Order: sequence, then C-alpha cells, then structure tokens
Amino acid sequence: MSKLLIQGPGRLEGELRVHGAKNSTLPLMAAALLCGSECILHNCPDLSDVDTSVRILRHLGCRTERSGSDVLVDPRGAAHWDIPETLMREMRSSIVFLGAIVSKMGKATLSFPGGCELGPRPIDLHLSALRKLGVSIQEDHGCLRCSAEQGLKGTNIAFSFPSVGATENVLLAACCAKGTTVITNAAREPEICDLADFLNACGGKICGAGDSTIVVEGVKKLDGCEHRVIPDRIAAATYLAAAAVTGSTLTLTHVLPAHMAPVLPVFEETGCQIDVDGETMRIVAPKRLSRMKNVRTMPYPGFPTDAQAPVMTMAAVAEGTSIFVENIFESRYKHVGELLRLGANIKVEGRVAVVEGVQRFSGAPVEAADLRGGAALVVAGLAAQGETLVSGVKHIDRGYESIEKSLRSLGARVIRIPEEPAGKVPICRAAVYQEG
Ligand code: EPZ
Repeated sequence: MSKLLIQGPGRLEGELRVHGAKNSTLPLMAAALLCGSECILHNCPDLSDVDTSVRILRHLGCRTERSGSDVLVDPRGAAHWDIPETLMREMRSSIVFLGAIVSKMGKATLSFPGGCELGPRPIDLHLSALRKLGVSIQEDHGCLRCSAEQGLKGTNIAFSFPSVGATENVLLAACCAKGTTVITNAAREPEICDLADFLNACGGKICGAGDSTIVVEGVKKLDGCEHRVIPDRIAAATYLAAAAVTGSTLTLTHVLPAHMAPVLPVFEETGCQIDVDGETMRIVAPKRLSRMKNVRTMPYPGFPTDAQAPVMTMAAVAEGTSIFVENIFESRYKHVGELLRLGANIKVEGRVAVVEGVQRFSGAPVEAADLRGGAALVVAGLAAQGETLVSGVKHIDRGYESIEKSLRSLGARVIRIPEEPAGKVPICRAAVYQEG
C-alpha cells in the first residue's frame, strides 16, 4: 500500500480549487438510476469511492462513463438488483443504492455496507423507514433480501436521529412512490439539498430539503438531467486546517462559504482571518494558533463530525487547551494515538478529547485508520519538524483528490511512495523530493 512522505515544517501558498463533494456525488449517482434517460453529473471528484459507485452502476446494467469530472449515467440498461458484497464493503454509501434499486426494480439484494470504522454503523433507521414505505426486508447472514411487489407507498417517517444516509435513502425510495411522504427530523446537510435539487430537476416534487421536515410527493417518472455537484465542504475545511497549522496564507476557489458556516468561527477563534468573496475563500493564519475553546460535533448546521480530526490537528499545536466532544460517532478518535506519535498532548475519555497545545509536532511514521483521521495526519505532517511517513493512504484517497498533488501545488514537500516490491532498495530520501 502506498505511503505519503512529508518533509516539514513548511508554509503553503497560492490557490487551490476545491473538488466536488464526495458525500453528494455518491447519492447523486444512486439517484441517476431512477431516471428514464441519461444523466450527466458535473464536478464529480476523482476518488476511489466514486470509482466504486461507477462499478456498482455498471454491475446493475447502467452505461456509466467518466470524462474528466463529468460522470454520464444511462440507466436504461438496468437489469440487475443485487450489489456484490465486495462492492458493498468498499464504502458506507453503498447502502444508499438500496432505496433507488428497490424503487426502480421492485426488489434488491445486498449486504451490509462497509466504510470507515467509526464505531458500529447500524442501518436500522434505513431499514425501518424503507419497511414503512412498503419494502419487505429479510436479513439473513448479513444479506438483505428486499422486495416491494406492490410498489412503494408514501407515508410519514419520523427519524429518531437525523441520519444523512437514511434521509437520502428515503428521498430515493419515496420520489416515485404512490402518494406523499413526510419526513420529520430529516438530516439538513447541504448534500441532502443537492440530492433534492437533482431529483426535482429530473421531475421530482420534493420540498423542505435543508429543513427538518421534508415533503416528497411521489411522481410517475423521472427524466435524466445535467447537474453540477456542490463543492466538498469537508475537503475545503481540511485544506484550511493545513494552512492554519503552517501559518500560511491560502486561497480556495469553487467553494460555497455558506456550507462552511459551522466551521469558520472555529478558525477565527484560533486567530485565522477568513475573507470570503463569492466562491473564493482566503485564509491568513497567525504564526501560532490560539486554542479553540470547545468543539462539539453535531448534525448540520452544527460543527461537522468529518471536520473534527483535521481541526483537532490545529488545536494540538495551538496555544492553550481545547476540548472536543464527538457526539455523532462512537469511535472517531483513532487519529489521536497517531497524533501522540507526532508529539501531541491529547487525553481521550469516551466522547471527550482534551487537547493541550504543544509548540510543534516532530515527524514520525504514522498510520491512517480512516478517511478524515488520515487527512488529519497529513495536515500534522506539514507542520511537523522533519519527516512524517503516513501509511494507509487508501483511506485518504477515498475522499481527497490526489492530496499530495494538491498540497505540492501549494509548495508542500510531500510525495507518494508507491508500494515497494519486495527486495527493492528504497531510494535515498534526498532524491525523493526532487524527483516528486
Ligand atoms: C454520512 O454518513 C457521511 N457519509 C459521513 O461522512 C458523515 O460523517 C455522516 O453522514 C454524518 O454527517 C456519506 O455521506 C457517504 P449518519 P452516514 O447516518 O450517512 C447513526 C466521511 O468521512 N445511525 O448521519 O453513515 C450512526 O451510527 C464520512 O466522508 C444509526 O444509528 O451518517 C451515527 O452514529 C464518514 N442508524 C449517526 O447515526 C442508522 O440507520 C450518524 O450517521 C444510521 C445511522
């Protein structure tokens, strides 16, 4: 498995275009399955999770082509209703295909999804909502056998927790159901709005997306359309964190600042200056960050759990002590052990992490265990004294487009070291940065 070798510390400078949102692209690709003609999604990121979704759509019989950041999906050849376990296990959002497949095909067979190990990731909210819409679901030996011979029927669905994926699954299943579905305590993330905008552009009748109550009036059919994926607010926050820990000035383009409203105050609390002009955002970081008092992750519009790890890296080298409370996932502090290897001073007690800022990280070999935790280790490596070798890069590639190329374009000294075939003598370090 490839690794990232980072030589720090070093300032970043320049401008970076933020890629399309992973967590919007994936449900949009599932939604394309529902259409009666081809769709083109623009601004899709080049990520391994998107590749997995392409493979799922092709397995189902859809013609799916990628051209740059465009993904074309022609669902007219869809003839299958199962997703192989190997594909299901590659990412969490594979479960969001369930609502679309059962709506389109009247049945679906798939296993429990994979995705980042952030603690148990149940799908009870997905399954209970789909059952209420008329899907019969048999769970045996990890396999879900679903059918809706009588078709799907609109109903009222009240979520006990505003689950992003479960809200997406209901939107996909209810869009062409008979009658109206009212979702209460729905997720309000921008990715939900992006999905509703796409479905409405295809002829759907969804209102209230972005609020806690969404009303879906079932329609007979959806026609394909062209749609531009929203920017990735978490990738943007990650690159802001990279600028913050290195005392840099950085400009991000093609962002939607409104989607980042929950995180920007935390950056400003640490002494970063953030200027916004349309879809451009500029950060000017101080030489040394001040602590951020409390960071509590919450459903949108609260502080996003996906930004917790990269932002914790900032707190780890800030002046003072910061407190984090991870309220969304049970086990989303796997990056803490690796940050300690870099010299951080963090104590975790259940959902609470107390981060005492240190003067500086010192480079070391570290291991990414999940997508955002891995990105946090890269951010830390940029600020660390000496070399940091990050392994487990496949996690990072699921959510960040060529992270090393993006950072190198900003002046960072980072290079991807491909997996060395057994016995090959590692090239000398000095040559690595020149060659990269
Ligand atoms: C989506 O995951 C995102 N993934 C996650 O991003 C993100 O962290 C999460 O939403 C919260 O914002 C994608 O969109 C592909 P949830 P999802 O259902 O849908 C519990 C990243 O790094 N829950 O809102 O799985 C669950 O255990 C990824 O890009 C149930 O109990 O999140 C968790 O504690 C990581 N039963 C909480 O709800 C269910 O049926 C939030 O889950 C579903 C969820």
